[in-house]
Order: sequence, then C-alpha cells, then structure tokens
Amino acid sequence: MDKDLSRVLISQKEIEKKVMEISKEISEDYQGKDLLLVCVLKGSIIFTADLIRALSIPVQMDTIAVSSYGDQTKSSGVVRLIKDLDEDVTNKHVLIVEDIVDSGLTLQYLKNVLEQRNPASVKVCTLLDKRQRRVHDQEPDYSGFVIPDEFVVGYGMDYNEYYRQLPYIGVLNQEIYKE
Ligand code: IMP
Repeated sequence: MDKDLSRVLISQKEIEKKVMEISKEISEDYQGKDLLLVCVLKGSIIFTADLIRALSIPVQMDTIAVSSYGDQTKSSGVVRLIKDLDEDVTNKHVLIVEDIVDSGLTLQYLKNVLEQRNPASVKVCTLLDKRQRRVHDQEPDYSGFVIPDEFVVGYGMDYNEYYRQLPYIGVLNQEIYKE
C-alpha cells in the first residue's frame, strides 16, 4: 500500500498529538454543556473515535452520511444526504466532526440541515483543511492541519474505499487515479 503513496504528509505521532490538543480545547469549551458529536461517515470515523476517547466531558455521538464524491478525486458539486442522524438535536450543542474541508460545499450543506432543527449551537471540527480550494465561505471552529491541494488518504480517508486503514495520512500517487 505504501508504494501507492508519493509521500507521508502527516505521521501517526503528529496526528495523535493534534487529536489530544483539539480534544483538550473542546473539553474546556463545552464544559457543562450538552454536547453531541456528529461523525460524518465514513471519512471521519477514525478521527471521531480517537477524539471522543480523549474528551474529558460527557458527550453523545451520532452519525450522518452525505456524498459528493463518488469514486473520483474531485467533488461532483452536488451533496446528497445518504443517512440522517438517529437522534433529535433540539437544544443540543452540535459539533460536526469532519475528516477534511475542501471546497466547503459538504460543510455548508450539513450546517444548513442541522441549523434548521433548533440546536443550541452548531460548530465544526475538522482534522484537515484544504483552504486553497475553498469555494464556499466555511471556516471550521476547530482545525487540525492546513494541507496543500493534493489528494490524501489514510486515517479514515479513502480512494475508491481503499486506504482508510493507514494509521497516518499520505498523498496518493497520481498514477493510481490516472490509470
Ligand atoms: P468538500 O465538500 O469539497 O469540502 O469536500 C469534503 C469531502 O470531500 C470530505 O469530507 C472528504 O470526504 C472528501 N475529500 C476532499 N478532499 C479529499 C482528499 O484529499 N482525500 C479524501 N477525501 C477527500
């Protein structure tokens, strides 16, 4: 699998350190509040799993799934809701957990959908921010790493459903998706 990557962008150690820093910040900011983590399937599964275990405050978790990518490395420009939340978010402090914010389209869609349901607040935590590619004006409230405009995989992120299992984040060799 390593041969499919052009380089490792963020090591396992760097991810671990960053997750601890973000979870500390979230634990302080949401002290005494009713917090609901919304894991955006499937890319943020591993980030959410690590983040939630590092939080020191009581927290609930739910999942939502949207699609804008298909099998390609570029967004289709249309977001579809594939799986809604199981629980009601009324009066809850919702924190959307994303793997990566790219154009910002997915986030804009998710925030719109959730804000209409009378939550106490809606904020966003992303591990990666591909800021250069932003088209929709979305600024994450918590962000791990700003990364360049390259297609990355690992730590939950995929290409064609592969590579999610890598414990680090790497840049996918362009040969793989140009074949
Ligand atoms: P956006 O709607 O353009 O912001 O795209 C956000 C979603 O696209 C993320 O949640 C990812 O699922 C996917 N995505 C964007 N860039 C990458 C990448 O480099 N690797 C894997 N998935 C990506």
